[in-house]
Amino acid sequence: MSDTLGTWKRTHFCGDLRKEQIGQDVTLMGWVLRRRDHGGLIFIDLRDRTGLAQLTFDPDLCADAHKVAEDVRNEFVLAVKGKVIPRPQGTVNPNMKTGEVEIQVTECKLLNRSKPLPFTLDEHSEVAENIRLKYRYLDLRRPQLQYNLILRHQVSQVTRQYLTENGFLELETPFLTKSTPEGARDFLVPSRINLGNFYALPQSPQIFKQILMISGFDRYFQVVRCFRDEDLRADRQPEFTQIDCELSFVDRDDVVRVMEGLIARIFKDAKGIDVELPMQRMTYAEAIRRFGVDNPDLRFGLELIDLSDLVKNAGFKVFADVCSGGGIVKGLNAKGCARFSRKEIDELTQFVAIYGAKGMAYVKIENGEWHSPIAKFFTADEIKAMNQAFGAEEGDLLLFVADKPKVVNDSLGRLRNHLAKLLGLVDKDTFRFVWITDFPLLEWDEDDKRWCAVHHPFTAPMDEDVDYVETDPGRCRAKAYDLVLNGSEIGGGSIRIHQQQVQALMFRMLGLSEEEARMKFGFLLDALEYGTPPHGGIAFGMDRLIMLLTGSDSIRDVIAFPKTQKGACLMSEAPNAVDEKQLRELGIRLAVAAKQP
Ligand code: AMO
Ligand code: AMP
Repeated sequence: MSDTLGTWKRTHFCGDLRKEQIGQDVTLMGWVLRRRDHGGLIFIDLRDRTGLAQLTFDPDLCADAHKVAEDVRNEFVLAVKGKVIPRPQGTVNPNMKTGEVEIQVTECKLLNRSKPLPFTLDEHSEVAENIRLKYRYLDLRRPQLQYNLILRHQVSQVTRQYLTENGFLELETPFLTKSTPEGARDFLVPSRINLGNFYALPQSPQIFKQILMISGFDRYFQVVRCFRDEDLRADRQPEFTQIDCELSFVDRDDVVRVMEGLIARIFKDAKGIDVELPMQRMTYAEAIRRFGVDNPDLRFGLELIDLSDLVKNAGFKVFADVCSGGGIVKGLNAKGCARFSRKEIDELTQFVAIYGAKGMAYVKIENGEWHSPIAKFFTADEIKAMNQAFGAEEGDLLLFVADKPKVVNDSLGRLRNHLAKLLGLVDKDTFRFVWITDFPLLEWDEDDKRWCAVHHPFTAPMDEDVDYVETDPGRCRAKAYDLVLNGSEIGGGSIRIHQQQVQALMFRMLGLSEEEARMKFGFLLDALEYGTPPHGGIAFGMDRLIMLLTGSDSIRDVIAFPKTQKGACLMSEAPNAVDEKQLRELGIRLAVAAKQP
């Protein structure tokens, strides 16, 4: 039988004991990490969220407690009373916070037992993630996951503090709401009281926070869950948390200044890291030109080189044809990689193919010469000019992709990150921030044959580009900005449209008829007519931020109860089929049989 606490009160956490407590009587409670029986003396490492304490059970000093300890197994729950004593000479453990002391136990209560675990909690044991997720309550006992979630708590506390100091009010917005477009699919919730009607879970509180500005709250924030039914990746979850902010009477620089202050404060308070302010800024056009992507990792160089002008009139038909057809040719200099085998180069070619590249030409610089299937197509002068553009040296490997600009930039941009990892150019301890600004407002969607908002439909065009909205939509830049950290987009926002006519024009550009716009966003269009202040804001992806702060490889390691790539919670087994009665009440009949997720 397990015992109850009775009158016992915990005096200390396991991880808090130091040599200053030597001589004190303490009461600890926690889980048994491991037990070592030295034939007589028993040692137990007791764990709670703060760390470990080493307990010693001496049969001569505490026969009863020793008896309890004899039957204890891993993850049993104990309460112990004892005295803090120094560890004997030679047994001090400098790798442990509590390594200088141990607890000489006098009394011990067994508060609960545990079945043998399906996996050990040993940090170094490699356990399949689906097993970890099924037994998430055990997995969460690991120190790394505890650290991640404790840091997450600290970040949300600092965020609240900083934003409150800066005049922001924490206000809530509904979860049962109308669809707010952020580019993903909505999760729908059927309404029982209004049969045949659905709420949508918010992809973000975008429209509501704008309405709070119209209502005069001036500055809003919320640490808020957002829901998006999209294809999941290592840094995406169907429900995730944003630090969501909106400010009135501001321009882009005001938002950037307050928000980089927030990020600097988070890094200082949670990690003790000084972030240099102001942060670097780069236009979208420059990011694409130099790095191929709008979320460049600036911890390493390896920039893309545009060779279009050098090759458009040269003898290599593949390149010349692409250029005359409106495409471009860009390259990367993989320094020192001339040693790559045919197989390794083929692998890189397969990598860029994922992003649509139809081929990748390569050049090895060996003995001062081009070794390449394409060398014969270029004159010595052309080769010299390209070498110069690449900064090519002995032993380098030059890689070329020719295609439509989007394919070239996408594929080489991703290849740049891939190569940096392969070549060990990424310094894990560096944090490089950059604001990306001047995004395009609209982009042409080839599949749907219509213009789409690059950020979202409420983002304002740049003042000097307003006329292009109708005349040359692709050329119009937006008052939008993203914050990128080490190649990951951790936040995005914009100055909003605050004039009703401009908002209506924007909806028109997106192919919404007046009727559709009214049906979807009538309440916003109406509100905009009652004195809307200029306003703007941003939302940070809290999970991604914590991922980067903790050096986690997966977003699932910073969320207590995450979903798998297939959107399932393996612990609770959601989503699941529901019974006929529930469906009937909602007026729903299934057209397909429910599949096991
Ligand atoms: P956006 O859609 O750019 O902007 O989202 C803001 C930030 O949220 C994070 N994020 C995600 N994190 C985890 N899983 C996901 N599925 C996911 N999707 C996005 C990213 C991203 O930078 N309403 C606007 C903000 C605004 O304009 O104020 C919005 O939601 O880190
Ligand atoms: P081919 O003429 O198809 O035999 O190609 C000659 C070389 O050009 C090969 O090394 C190809 O990998 C390369 N190549 C072909 N198409 C492209 C392209 N779109 N971009 C870059 N290199 C290419």
